[in-house]
Amino acid sequence: MKVKFVERLSNLQCVCCITDKKEVFEKLKIKAETGKTVLVMDGPLPKVLSFCEDSSPENLRKAAASALWKLEETQLEEVKIEVDLKLTSDGAQALAEGLGLGGYAFDKYKNEKKELYVEVAINKDLKPYFNEGVEIAEITNYVRDLVNIPATDAPPEAIAEEALSLREMGAEVKVVMGERLKDLGLVGTWHVGKGSKNPPAFVTIKYKSENPLAKLALVGKGVTFDSGGLSLKPPASMEDMKCDKAGACSILGVAKYLLKKRPNLDVNLYMPLAENLPDGGSYKPGDVIVFRNGVSVEIHSTDAEGRLLLADALIEASTQKKDYLIDVATLTGACMVALGRYTSGLFCTSQTLCDMFLKVSRFTGEKLWPLPLDEDLEKELKTDFADTRNNAKGRYGGAITAALFLKKFVDNKNVKAWAHLDIAGPAFLEGSWKYYKSGATGQPVRTLIKFLELVEAQENRNQQ
Ligand code: BES
Ligand code: MG
Ligand code: ZN
Repeated sequence: MKVKFVERLSNLQCVCCITDKKEVFEKLKIKAETGKTVLVMDGPLPKVLSFCEDSSPENLRKAAASALWKLEETQLEEVKIEVDLKLTSDGAQALAEGLGLGGYAFDKYKNEKKELYVEVAINKDLKPYFNEGVEIAEITNYVRDLVNIPATDAPPEAIAEEALSLREMGAEVKVVMGERLKDLGLVGTWHVGKGSKNPPAFVTIKYKSENPLAKLALVGKGVTFDSGGLSLKPPASMEDMKCDKAGACSILGVAKYLLKKRPNLDVNLYMPLAENLPDGGSYKPGDVIVFRNGVSVEIHSTDAEGRLLLADALIEASTQKKDYLIDVATLTGACMVALGRYTSGLFCTSQTLCDMFLKVSRFTGEKLWPLPLDEDLEKELKTDFADTRNNAKGRYGGAITAALFLKKFVDNKNVKAWAHLDIAGPAFLEGSWKYYKSGATGQPVRTLIKFLELVEAQENRNQQ
């Protein structure tokens, strides 16, 4: 099912009401909890009721998606959505997000494509907020499409092409590919990618505004497929590894948002892209890679590849002054062991930055939880043959040791605050959850967008 929002339906077939009134549900002996739905046939048209216990953004998203999923069980194609609860501006945005995200399907490869036409009846004053939600959902679904595309159809070059298409919207986009990476010292990306027939690439997108209130850099891991390389993953662990480009894809979503909304910020976006495969030409355990900032890395596992791509981008991003440097990556299985499938790990060099992310994540529902950059684990990265190993010796605290590795490539002379988001769990789901069906969630694009809005708002206030 794919949702299309329309101003007026041509043939209204069904009404769908999101309500916080318990009575109807209780009368039908259905426990009134958010996400519960019921199809009633007591009027001229079939009606879906979706319970929403309060008008918090997250509950509205869930109730909206559940309503659509209930409709999906029918053949109905034109539906009007009504709300029988008090909507705030945030609520109106969340309602649209719930409908947009809940009504997403990755049907590119399916013969049967179903569309649902939706008309939404809400107060005129709330329309702008609702429309904002529609746009956010569109961007998120764009990210989901990119992440869901199978690896063979989305090699580094294809993702780079996608970035180049942003030139139409006025972005400055630069792509470096193949052997040229080596010449420019983008050695991490080069080494990880050199075992694949699909050449690696490094994309830089620059978004500039007239009066920038802050300078930011965003980095996203773009491993278009992670087989583990010569340190090959077992089949079950490899199955969903087309999702290893989720960080980079979410960065592309942010770029789209910036070009559309034009906030008063300067943002550089970096996407190192590579396919990690075993081959005669692959990089190997025991190899030593010397990065552009002088740090030498001994490879122990070719499956700890993401941090090598990120290292290139972090070095590049911190060559100039930045107020904030943020990277997002499906980086470690260990982060999922620590926090579960539904929460991303958040590492920050500044408590203020950490608090900013926690604040925006409470609105977006893209869950984050702080993890420490514990210096005591540094010794796990020691080796006799280079400045550092690429993976830790022991297996405890794997998300933290990965973050400590990344920190070596952030130049704190130029970067005021750095955050690393390990999105290995929430980027891609095995089954449905909340308003997501299985597959890519687009996380953390909504959080990044909200974060940029917060930065702009804060800086605006500071300057007044
Ligand atoms: N892409 C994986 C991490 C991952 C795991 C993402 C599960 C999404 C779901 C990453 O490149 C990886 O393989 N990490 C290793 C690191 C280890 C070798 C230090 C891991 O987590 O096992
Ligand atoms: Mg790996
Ligand atoms: Zn990976």
